[in-house]
Amino acid sequence: MNNTQNHPAESASIGSAILDRKAIEQTDPEVFAALFAETERQHYGLELIPSENYVSRAVLTAIGSVFTNKYSEGYAHKRYYGGNENVDTIETIAIERAKALFGADHANVQPYSGSPANLAVYYALLEPGETVMGMALPAGGHLTHGWKVNFSAHFFSSVQYPVDPETGLIDYDVVWELAKEHRPKLIWAGATAYSRIFEFDKFAQIAEDVGARFAADIAHISGLVATGLHPDPVPYADVVTMTTHKLLRGPRGAMILAKEEHARSIDRAVFPGLQGGPHDHVTAAIGVCLQEAADPSYTEYCKQVVANAKALAEELVKRGIDVVTGGTDNHLILADLSSTGVPGKVAQQTLDRANITCNANMVPGDKRSAFDPSGIRLGSPALTTRGFKEAEMRMVANWLADVVENVEDGTTVERVRNEVIELCKQYPLWY
Ligand SMILES: Cc1ncc(COP(=O)(O)O)c(C=O)c1O
Repeated sequence: MNNTQNHPAESASIGSAILDRKAIEQTDPEVFAALFAETERQHYGLELIPSENYVSRAVLTAIGSVFTNKYSEGYAHKRYYGGNENVDTIETIAIERAKALFGADHANVQPYSGSPANLAVYYALLEPGETVMGMALPAGGHLTHGWKVNFSAHFFSSVQYPVDPETGLIDYDVVWELAKEHRPKLIWAGATAYSRIFEFDKFAQIAEDVGARFAADIAHISGLVATGLHPDPVPYADVVTMTTHKLLRGPRGAMILAKEEHARSIDRAVFPGLQGGPHDHVTAAIGVCLQEAADPSYTEYCKQVVANAKALAEELVKRGIDVVTGGTDNHLILADLSSTGVPGKVAQQTLDRANITCNANMVPGDKRSAFDPSGIRLGSPALTTRGFKEAEMRMVANWLADVVENVEDGTTVERVRNEVIELCKQYPLWY
């Protein structure tokens, strides 16, 4: 797809984030071409995948920095390689900022990403074959919380809790009954597609009742937790994991927060248990993103993220599109397209042609498969970073509905695409 074929003039002014354009263009024209095309795609498209965002110039500079050249197995002041004084500085900064932002006893900032962070939790807290309980994938849970195709169901015995197929909400009585029946050693709360509040205090009570450890995975809602816009799991959970590249607006990476009693076992699980050298350029960028997240402007950003998601959901409902649970409390919306007759994959692919990016997703009680589900998952973090407010989100909802109602009609798709490009030009990305 050529996102700018009608707008050649714009191409010349973008790409300033490519640090040394000539170097990469001359060395590797093929990679440069894809990098430039991706930059254009991001400029002229609406990013609605709830786990994506646009990092700042400072974060991107840290990711693209010389820290990528360094090896630093171990932890600050206890490394297996020399020359780590600057890595010690940035890792200590990132840890202290993470502890301060989330009020945690302990933080590990080395996991390569969200899935390895969760793997480290298993390695630290469970023995192979013990029972884990998490939210089922079709209910909105993550693969690593015990879904059948994942390591977490292969090496552990897994029990999955659903959401109510009618309301789309967690039924805490059901979670409690399942926990009493199966006596898991670890219970996960957290999701990849759940638009309502997690009552972490209730999960902690259930875990305590059955003698389980409690892990909260706040990959999606970390920013809302950090800014007080979502209940905080830190006082209740043994460990809290999160990615740093979603709402938190940092590099692709992850962190594990832990109560002091688990600090040593979490650190040992990450290194040397599972990983070798940490990605120091990512650690530097995590430090920068945590500095940004501590700024009052980030709280304002997160408030707008929620307001924007609510506006998007409301407008979709007005246009007759079913929204699971009827709305959202966070940054995410799950739209159930069953009543439109348009499968989620078809909607996703047609929206792609209109420069609107989202992903097909299962909905509670889905009759279709994970490969070809009934819904689409939408989110507001990236568009809010771009500067969109409620009015623009309503425009987005109407374009979405126009495309879903007219998947066979190329004229509508073309019209929406042109309007999308015009709006994107009014809200340029910094790069
Ligand atoms: C709740 C949750 N946990 C963990 C992950 C895994 O993160 P990663 O893709 O970085 O491995 C995700 C990713 O979407 C997620 O949504």
